[in-house]
Amino acid sequence: MRFSEAFLDELRSKNDIETVVSSYVQLRRSGRLLSGLCPFHGEKTPSFYIYPETQSYYCFGCGAGGDVITFIRTAENLSYADAVQLLANRAGMAMPEDQVDDGTVALRKRCYAANREAAKFFHTQLHSDMGKEGLAYFLSRGLQPATIRHFGLGFAPNEWTALTKHLRSLGFRDDELIQFNLARKSKNGGAYDAFRNRVIFPIIDLQGNVVAFGGRVLDDTKPKYLNSSDTIAYKKSRGVFALNFAKNSDEKELILCEGYMDVIALHQAGFTNAVAGLGTALTEEQALLLSRYAQQVNICYDSDEAGRKAAEKAVRVFSKINVKIKVLQLSGGKDPDEIIKNHGPEKMRAILSGAMNDTEFQLSRAKENLSLETEDDKLSYANEAVKILASVPNPIERDLYASKISEETGVAKPTILAQIDRQRRNHQKNKQKEQFLSIEKEMSSFAKSEFYPPGTPVRTRKAEEQLLASLFHSPDFLQVACADLQGTDFSSQTNRTIFERLTALIAQSHHPSIHDFNDCLTPSEMGHLSKILSSSEKLGNSPKECRDCVCVIKESPSSIPPTGAGHLSDDEFLKLFHK
Ligand code: CTP
Ligand code: MN
Repeated sequence: MRFSEAFLDELRSKNDIETVVSSYVQLRRSGRLLSGLCPFHGEKTPSFYIYPETQSYYCFGCGAGGDVITFIRTAENLSYADAVQLLANRAGMAMPEDQVDDGTVALRKRCYAANREAAKFFHTQLHSDMGKEGLAYFLSRGLQPATIRHFGLGFAPNEWTALTKHLRSLGFRDDELIQFNLARKSKNGGAYDAFRNRVIFPIIDLQGNVVAFGGRVLDDTKPKYLNSSDTIAYKKSRGVFALNFAKNSDEKELILCEGYMDVIALHQAGFTNAVAGLGTALTEEQALLLSRYAQQVNICYDSDEAGRKAAEKAVRVFSKINVKIKVLQLSGGKDPDEIIKNHGPEKMRAILSGAMNDTEFQLSRAKENLSLETEDDKLSYANEAVKILASVPNPIERDLYASKISEETGVAKPTILAQIDRQRRNHQKNKQKEQFLSIEKEMSSFAKSEFYPPGTPVRTRKAEEQLLASLFHSPDFLQVACADLQGTDFSSQTNRTIFERLTALIAQSHHPSIHDFNDCLTPSEMGHLSKILSSSEKLGNSPKECRDCVCVIKESPSSIPPTGAGHLSDDEFLKLFHK
């Protein structure tokens, strides 16, 4: 689908890349560029760059790149058209009338509509005769009517087709309901409700759309919770329950719990910065999302063994991400819901203020199954502790914990510190080795890039990229140096697409920019183009250089046939296989 040039120009001028990206990434100015931690992969040192002059970005860590539309496509996981729509909304622009739609926008809207109607239905049921039990359940768990309304909680009646019938009456088709996970296909080809006889927790995304549901049984039947699986409007691995509310709380911290009921009890008690993952182990995507809305995440998982294991795992996921982590030590109940019920919000506040940092948490984990009465126990604790402290970057902190460990185990403090140092030196060596390997990897990633057919010489790849970069910079070189070059001379389909679009733009005397490629390249190809452009600083930028590139490209044996091998002469066909 194409939008008009004028529309896209206005869209981009009203969505400056720096402003748009800065609501996702904390940017710091470095010379003419801005840099920050890449939102698309976990990292602790910035390799994500914004180029204000070209209104583009590129991450040297993961290769993501493009313009403001590509950024939104990737960050919000949207199609090209949806990304344009989001930016238009952001800038208060109307979409062009004759906008063509590839179908996904309409389908997603339909899914939101069905989910919203389903949420309304479930909520209404809760206050009807059929939903008495559901309401009684929520009240028995200490929820106030205002809380039930705030979270839009509901009840799915103990019937096979209550929701299905209701949504049919509103014009939704069975196949849609099945596709949206609201109904399941029955053996006779009909549909029946996915959620039955369960209290319902709607899951709302950051734009306020109902995207999925969780449903809990009223007794001890298994499974205790049912959750919607992924749909066109919902990806479980990115979902966070109640972030739609928590993102508006004034706190710079979030409380991350395990369960729906924990979050709701916390909000009711005034902790409106509580959120939960949705029945899966914490994913890197969720962790990144949380890090966008908080400087610190307090992990508040259940106090049982499963909860502590999950917390340990979450700490590991967060360790790649630039956000402060604390792990809460729950007492007085197995989860926040119980603690608040048994001891009130004050107890919760005390737990929050006594939160352990991740070093303390790991040390306490290491001590857990040891009595520290025997020499053996003391020794194994000291050894574990040394390992943990070796990865603490701050020397003062290391010293502090070394004193504590020394007291607990009777091992002299200098010995502990010496051991920590030794381990750190080993780490250092490994790190250097890793750095060396990563440089090597970078070199070979050039050779391994998915955008070239296997076996394309690095020399050819370099020449193609260098030539494309020069043409962006100096479009007039096209005439001067590339008269006999054709798209089919390129070894890579992506480079060919770029070259052909470039040629067309230059023919219209249009100075090309990365923005002109959104509709002919995928987001990952946009990353490839962005990489090419980011290297343009290193160009000699002369017609001679361009001609050299053209020669190398022309020499390359593996050209792409113009429209399939059928159109080639025998000679040309044979040339394709000539190495
Ligand atoms: N969960 C799930 N499926 C299950 C069990 C749990 O998806 N069969 C998820 C739910 O999101 C649940 C969370 O894991 O909220 C924590 O599970 P659990 O501690 O067992 O439940 P609680 O939240 O404590 O629920 P309740 O207090 O209602 O028993
Ligand atoms: Mn619970």
